Amino acid sequence: MTKKKSLSLSDKSERGQAIRLLRRIIAENGREHVRGYVVAGICLVLVALSTAFLAWIMRDVIDRIFVEGDRTVLFTLPFAVFLSFLVRGLATYGQGVILARIGNDVVARYQRRLFAHLTELSVDFFGQNRSAQLAARINQNVSGVRDTLNLTITSLARDLLTLIFLIIAMIWQDWVLSLIALLAGPPIAIMISGLSKKLRKATRQSIDLNARVLGSMQETAQGIQVVKAFTMERLLRDRTEVLIQSAEERSNRIAVITERSGPITETVAGIAVAAVIAWSGYRSIAYGYSPGAMFAFITALLLAYDPARRLAKLQVQMERALVNAAMIYEILDEAPRQADRAGASALIVTGGEVAFEDVVFGYHPGEPVLRGISFTAQAGRTTALVGASGSGKSTIVALIERFYDASGGRILIDGQEIGGVTKASLRGQIAYVPQHPTLFEGSIRDNIRFGRPEADDAEVEEAARRAQAEEFILAQPLGYDTPVGENGVTLSGGQRQRLSIARALLRDAPILLLDEATSALDTRSETLVQRALDAAMADRTVIVVAHRLSTIVKADQILVVDRGRIAERGNHAELVRRPNGLYARFHGLQASGDEDRVDAAL
Ligand SMILES: Nc1ncnc2c1ncn2[C@@H]1O[C@H](COP(=O)(O)OP(=O)(O)OP(=O)(O)O)[C@@H](O)[C@H]1O
Ligand SMILES: [Mg+2]
Repeated sequence: MTKKKSLSLSDKSERGQAIRLLRRIIAENGREHVRGYVVAGICLVLVALSTAFLAWIMRDVIDRIFVEGDRTVLFTLPFAVFLSFLVRGLATYGQGVILARIGNDVVARYQRRLFAHLTELSVDFFGQNRSAQLAARINQNVSGVRDTLNLTITSLARDLLTLIFLIIAMIWQDWVLSLIALLAGPPIAIMISGLSKKLRKATRQSIDLNARVLGSMQETAQGIQVVKAFTMERLLRDRTEVLIQSAEERSNRIAVITERSGPITETVAGIAVAAVIAWSGYRSIAYGYSPGAMFAFITALLLAYDPARRLAKLQVQMERALVNAAMIYEILDEAPRQADRAGASALIVTGGEVAFEDVVFGYHPGEPVLRGISFTAQAGRTTALVGASGSGKSTIVALIERFYDASGGRILIDGQEIGGVTKASLRGQIAYVPQHPTLFEGSIRDNIRFGRPEADDAEVEEAARRAQAEEFILAQPLGYDTPVGENGVTLSGGQRQRLSIARALLRDAPILLLDEATSALDTRSETLVQRALDAAMADRTVIVVAHRLSTIVKADQILVVDRGRIAERGNHAELVRRPNGLYARFHGLQASGDEDRVDAAL
């Protein structure tokens, strides 16, 4: 995500890259809007023409009215001037509205694409990026793309056309003066292009810093209880202050670079205008040239000044927009890692047997987390995974869902390798209760219904009842329709867990993956959650990461995970009898204490 590829490349290939990017943006967004662009284009041509017409008619205004004193044109010429202003005003309005609409549509389109793409990306992408920063960055980037399009079109079409027409008008009036004025162009272009490179770097840094500032605000809001409990306010303020200051400093640098184009253009243009006045003044005084041509010329020159200045600034602004666009494509081009294999078939579950064959996996290369895991979870039975914190239990569960792909060995469900079936069919046959329950924006009912979107209200309520959740749901102000706070802050830990279990129950899948929460609950919640789990576990293949003795004792098979390997296996009766076994040792400790938790002992 923070690839800084573009900075290390040479100027030439950077320009090539910018052009490719521009082509891509236009190819991906232009087609839908051809009609809009044509109408906007006509408006832009009208703006350019009416502007050039003003300069052109100035010669007649001066010569016929002021020099010749021709009364017949006293009405027609001013009226023509008025008309051209009217046309210019209407055409400016038309192109403004059309281009703004296209811009808004482009924003919406990229938002849609990014959201769809983010949901397709694999779990590890989100492990590498902080969600709040990601959101803030995308927000800045999307408007960047809109600006690229609008800038390209308004500047290239309107300003360039206007400039060309005005230059024609100028040459028409006086080619010698035109030559003097046009000499100002090349030095401006050269100096401006020197600015863009500096700007590119500062822009990228500024976007990243702003994203971090916004991200830090969002994380603070989410973790406000921890922030207050550990009196982290000051520390966080100080840390954010550093970011805010750097962001401000970057923005200032961008302003200095961007605005530097102003004095450059002004100075060079000033020299040109002065030279034109001096030369034409001299000619008029010395040789009696008529003033009309000179006025027309100066008018054209002054009218050309604004579009020329905007064009000079274009490259600088475009740079900013292109950096944003490039950042969007970094995300859009991030390929989902676990695309379905070509010709992948749907998983067909007959019983729901899950088998691991010598599975090896690590989140980072060279740091194995699972070092050869083999076991069979029999169809319709319960397999409990127990082991110390960090031994790899949740990782085993994550691999069955294919959140990650194993680097060695095979995982089979009813004899079909999970890498060879479609992810949708795989996940459709699995209900998953994560270690940390996740709730989404919406009502309690919505949150349960995510288990099976087509379920009706009666089924949702039945699932809630079986998950021991109905009582507290009905006690909420709006019952099932009560909105849940961000990530469920308005609910207790046990209530969140029971909602998460209700969601899994509603799915009614043949395989249930259950990652028991490690957080301690009070005895009543504990009993309720336990009952909910018992309901969920009946009659299906269950793989449960268990921390409670009550869950473990009932399991058909217990796997003791130790540092990425299975150290012991068997049922409770067999394992307690094993002399010096990990499990037996734990059970000895457990029996002497009154704790119902396994981890401390293992
Ligand atoms: N997303 C991740 N990225 C990198 N490393 C990870 C990630 N998730 C887990 N790990 C590492 O993998 C190892 C196993 O983690 P895992 O979550 O499977 O443990 P666990 O047995 O479920 O522990 P617990 O009982 O505390 O939940 C740990 O050392 C952990 O640091
Ligand atoms: Mg875990």
